[in-house]
Amino acid sequence: MAENYEKPDFWAKKAASQGYPARSVYKLMEIDKKFALLKPGQRVLDLGAAPGSWTLYVSQVLNGNGHLTAVDLRRLKKIPESGMITMIEGDMTAEDVRFRARDGGLYDVVLSDAAPETTGNRLVDTTRSGVLVDCALFYADTLLKAGGNLVVKIFQGSDSGALLRQVRARFASGRTYKPTACRSASFETYIIGLGKLA
Ligand SMILES: C[S@@+](CC[C@H](N)C(=O)[O-])C[C@H]1O[C@@H](n2cnc3c(N)ncnc32)[C@H](O)[C@@H]1O
Repeated sequence: MAENYEKPDFWAKKAASQGYPARSVYKLMEIDKKFALLKPGQRVLDLGAAPGSWTLYVSQVLNGNGHLTAVDLRRLKKIPESGMITMIEGDMTAEDVRFRARDGGLYDVVLSDAAPETTGNRLVDTTRSGVLVDCALFYADTLLKAGGNLVVKIFQGSDSGALLRQVRARFASGRTYKPTACRSASFETYIIGLGKLA
C-alpha cells in the first residue's frame, strides 16, 4: 500500500514534541550513535540543511565549540542562536556557494541530506539525486580534512553501486546504512565514508 506522506507518523510527532523542525533528525542521531561522527570542536558542513533539524542537532552536539556551515536553496525554519553557524542560502552545485563554503578552512565532517523535489518517476528522481551526491563528493574531495567523515543521502538506483565504489576509493571504509527512521517505502539510504584518505 502506498505510504501516506501527509499523515504525521511516530517520528514526525516526536520531532515536533522535541522542537526539531523535521523528522529527519532521528536519521542523523542514529547514524551518529552508530558511527560516532560528531564531537565538540569540529567544523561541520551541512548540505541540503533546510528546514534545519540536522543543523539544530549538530549545533547541540558542538555545544558552542566548533563551527557549522549550513547550505540550502531555502532558508532554515529554525536557525540555532549561535555565532558558530554560517547559513549559505543558495544552490550547493553553484561555484559561488562552493567558494563561500570554503571560508574558514577545511571540515572534519561533511553531511549531505540534500534531495531533489521528487516527481514520482524513479529514473528522474534517482538521476537528480545522483547529481547532488556527485556534488557532495566534490565537497568531500576539496573541503574535507584527511581522516574526516562523510554522510550522504542517495536514492537507491542504477548508479548507487558506482557512487559507493567512489566513496570506498576515497575513504578507509565506505558502506550504506538505512536508519530506522527512514520511511519503510522510501528508496533513500545513506552512504557513510569514514576516514578520508590523504
Ligand atoms: C530532506 S531535506 C533536508 C532536511 C534537513 N536535513 C533537516 O534535517 O531539516 C532536503 C533539502 O535539500 C535541499 N536541496 C535540494 N537541492 C539542493 C541544491 N541544489 N542546493 C542546496 N540545497 C538543495 C532542499 O531545498 C531541501 O531543503
